[in-house]
Order: sequence, then C-alpha cells, then structure tokens
Amino acid sequence: MSSAMIGVIGGSGLYAMPDLKNPEEVRLTTPFGDPSDAFIIGELEGRRVAFLPRHGRGHRLNPSEVPARANIYAFKLLGVRALISVSAVGSLREDYAPGHAVIPDQIFDRTKGIRPATFFEGGVVAHVGFDRPFCPNLSNILLHAAQAAGAVVHQGGTLVVMEGPQFSTKAESEENRRRGHSLIGMTALPEAKLAREAEIAYATLAMVTDYDVWHPEHDAVTVEQVIRVLNANVALSQQIVRLAVAQIDENFTSPAHDALRHAIITHPDYIPA
Ligand code: ADE
Repeated sequence: MSSAMIGVIGGSGLYAMPDLKNPEEVRLTTPFGDPSDAFIIGELEGRRVAFLPRHGRGHRLNPSEVPARANIYAFKLLGVRALISVSAVGSLREDYAPGHAVIPDQIFDRTKGIRPATFFEGGVVAHVGFDRPFCPNLSNILLHAAQAAGAVVHQGGTLVVMEGPQFSTKAESEENRRRGHSLIGMTALPEAKLAREAEIAYATLAMVTDYDVWHPEHDAVTVEQVIRVLNANVALSQQIVRLAVAQIDENFTSPAHDALRHAIITHPDYIPA
C-alpha cells in the first residue's frame, strides 16, 4: 500500500497540488466510510505527500457533509504524521485583511454538535487533551514558510468554527468579535479533534478571503468574493505548503504523537461482567 509522511488537506479553492511529482491516485475505504475523494500521493521536495481535497473535486460536500472521520482515518492508514490544513476563512479583525495568511493558535467550537467528532465510541472511551488544538511545531514551520514565500502572515488568533453552510448574521459576527475571536471558518472541526485522537500533528494555514459581515466599509461576504480572493492566492498557498514540506523530515516530532498516552482511556484489561 502507498504511504506518505505528510498530509495536505485542501479547502475551498485548493483542489489539486500540481507540484506533486509522480502522482498516484489512491482510493481508500475506512470503517467510517469513504473519504472526501481519492488521495493524490506523490513527491514534493523529496518527501512523500498525500493530498486530499476536503470538499471533493468539484466542491461536492458542504462543511457539515465532509466525512472527517474517514479522512483522518485514511491519513493515518497512509502513515501521515504531519497534516497541513489549508483553509479559507473570514476575518473578524481589521489587521487580518483579505489576502493575508494567518497561523491560528486556538479554536472555538460553534458547530451544532451534528458532526461525528470522535473515533472512540461503542464501549471504548478516550479523553484526549485539546488545550492546544494546533501542533506548535507544525504551526511554526508554516509561519516561517509563509514568511519565506513573501506572504503577509500573522501568528496566532482564535478560529471560530461555525456549522454553516450559510454565512453569519451581523449580530453573530459582532458577537464573535466581542468575544475576541480573530477568524471564522466552517471546517477545522471536527478535523483537528480527530487528528489529535489519531496522534497526527495538525496545523492550519488560514487564507483570509473576506471581512465576514461586520465591517462597515466592506460588502457582506459572498461566495464569489471568497473564490476570487482564493484564486488570487492559490499559487501563494501552494508555495507556502512546498516550503513547509521541505522543513518536515523523519526527525519531525509533535506533542500530538503521544496524545493517547496522556488520555483517560478504557482499560485494556476491562472485561465486561
Ligand atoms: N470561509 C471563508 N469566509 C468565511 C466566512 N466569512 N464565514 C465562514 N466561513 C468562511
């Protein structure tokens, strides 16, 4: 079976990685169903990289429909230890402008609880730590890669994850700002939680496409605007990914790689009465 040490999951606008050498299309099935699409596995900067378009080619899956458990399970099957998520986001602050890159360091969950968000069920329980949802080592690599690629990049900020698929109301957007959140998107959860349970290092390269709906001098967000800004930045995000991949080798480690060692977990010796 094919393998890869690095995974890249592309969001809206990033449906392919043309830089991958000797690309091979790999379809996997998992106990949690089929992933969003076939994986494209190839070489980039001498490393084996597995790419998956989160919404499927042609953008067929809305955020609530993305089969996150199948996706993360399949990355684990492939041997992925570092997973880079590229994501389109709205900005909730003036200084994070459309066209900028952000490496967020926190997540706030405003999904509706309808997305399956754990691998552990049916009698097997685990409570993994999630206080730092993004891997600091991988985030640092992404930050330096974005700087080297010449992006305007900001370090840190809380990414609110909403259910969608509709964008926020003005009242919701203003409330998110009052809470001090920096960015809003629809897909980092449950992906980040599942990656942690799978002991895969996970970090997000967030590409700001709009000011959501709070900004008095900007029109409310539209899909057309999101796609226009994304298309203008697709080469930049691919370059950032390439430079990041070059910095990830066999010596890459992450606190996430030991996540289950520190989890409260059903004891393997437990025998039901
Ligand atoms: N993705 C891109 N822009 C967004 C926004 N304003 N709200 C939620 N998700 C987004």
